Amino acid sequence: MSSIPRRYHITTFGCQMNKADSERMAGILENMGFQFSEDPNQADLILYNTCSIRDNAEHKVYSYLGRQAKRKLQQPNLTLIVAGCVAQQEGEALLRRVPELDMVMGPQHANRLEDLLEQVFAGNQVVATEAVHIMEDITKPRRESQVTAWVNVIYGCNERCTYCIVPSVRGIEQSRTPEAIRAEMEELGRQGYKEVTLLGQNIDAYGRDLPGTTPEGRNLHTLTDLLYFVHDVPGIERIRFATSHPRYFTERLIRACQELPKVCEHFHIPFQSGDNEVLKAMARGYTHEKYRRIIDMIRHYMPDASISADAIVGFPGETEEQFENTLKLLEEISFDMLNTAAYSPRPGTPAAVWENQLSEEVKSDRLQRLNHLVSIKAAERSQRYLGRIEEVLVEEQNAKDPTQVMGRTRGNRLTFFTGDINQLKGQLVQVKITESRAFSLSGEAISVPQPALV
Ligand code: SAH
Ligand code: SF4
Ligand code: F3S
Repeated sequence: MSSIPRRYHITTFGCQMNKADSERMAGILENMGFQFSEDPNQADLILYNTCSIRDNAEHKVYSYLGRQAKRKLQQPNLTLIVAGCVAQQEGEALLRRVPELDMVMGPQHANRLEDLLEQVFAGNQVVATEAVHIMEDITKPRRESQVTAWVNVIYGCNERCTYCIVPSVRGIEQSRTPEAIRAEMEELGRQGYKEVTLLGQNIDAYGRDLPGTTPEGRNLHTLTDLLYFVHDVPGIERIRFATSHPRYFTERLIRACQELPKVCEHFHIPFQSGDNEVLKAMARGYTHEKYRRIIDMIRHYMPDASISADAIVGFPGETEEQFENTLKLLEEISFDMLNTAAYSPRPGTPAAVWENQLSEEVKSDRLQRLNHLVSIKAAERSQRYLGRIEEVLVEEQNAKDPTQVMGRTRGNRLTFFTGDINQLKGQLVQVKITESRAFSLSGEAISVPQPALV
């Protein structure tokens, strides 16, 4: 059919989960014969993979979409798709708001893109937002990087944090089998990838929906068991995982990270608030004391591990004193990195309709104060690397200085050093750290690996 478009463009908003979904959808499109177009205006098929975690993330989509909907007036063959979390949240309503759309598809439908597109090309306007069992994708994702890759291990989230839209847009937890995960990693190893990040919204919940228990009644499939199961995949030199939930984090997991050489010394464990009353209102299911015990346990086994987290300020009813408890937790734990956000009411979540909402001024003032402390603490944590030799996995050229390459330490600090990307891409290089900044380091290579023998 001559009207079948041949160039596609994807813009991705939101978290790593969405990025991983986009890579799989791009793989499906390429398998169907589409070619990637960097410029959306040159593309015949445009897919926005959207995020609804906060109000501003959602608004961005509407402005992008408005522009392309106009273009469709001149180019009726343009296929417009909204995928991801806004698609799931809005469903049919999105078609009424933007009637030019050809398809609205929730995140659980990403792997079904080819089937759904066939319906679109047959002339239908498609809405795919019903809850489904997520099928394995049998095509090859088109990955951004040739060095590091994301591998989904569990989709969805069964928690009910009172501020959060994720459970209603991503559905219930669905774990992939250890065999499917390992097979994907083996393929990555064969293709030359060096680092894999295992992904889940609540990755510690991995496996609890899979069948099988040990003779003692313990679930056979946990994140810890998964790490043991995949850690020897040939070619993969580093393994990371995110995001951990304090409620399910175990000592067994920390010991596995300590024991398994490929698992990097970095933990991402959001705490959201340093105040017990706020944590309770958020329905997080732990206290700040419990959170501190987890960090102590990590530092007991792995004193140098880097620790990052997420926090929200200005949750409904948060007092100045309660906010200061968040500052205090950051001060005392000294995070290597903290992602911060001002609370944003999300449709359909319990906290959105509470009457004790705070003003935007209070929220942005607290966000600024928190961010100020975040950089101070991150800068302090960076200093411990000065003079040390760190293993850096080289990913890219430094966009600002082509004589330099950039990569990450095992603790996940961005590191720059002088070198030729053609020689170093994908190599593990020992780098002596000579400069530290809040969120990055610079250094000098002390051993440049020989070109690989073919
Ligand atoms: N599953 C992870 C994080 C999911 S969302 C966890 O449980 O921690 C990523 C981050 O977005 C959250 O950690 C939180 O800090 C932030 N976030 C989620 N909902 C939000 C909201 N309504 N307003 C502001 N920030 C929010
Ligand atoms: Fe959202 Fe809570 Fe689930 Fe994280 S654990 S995705 S914050 S509901
Ligand atoms: Fe956003 Fe959906 Fe991820 S709401 S943060 S893209 S799970």
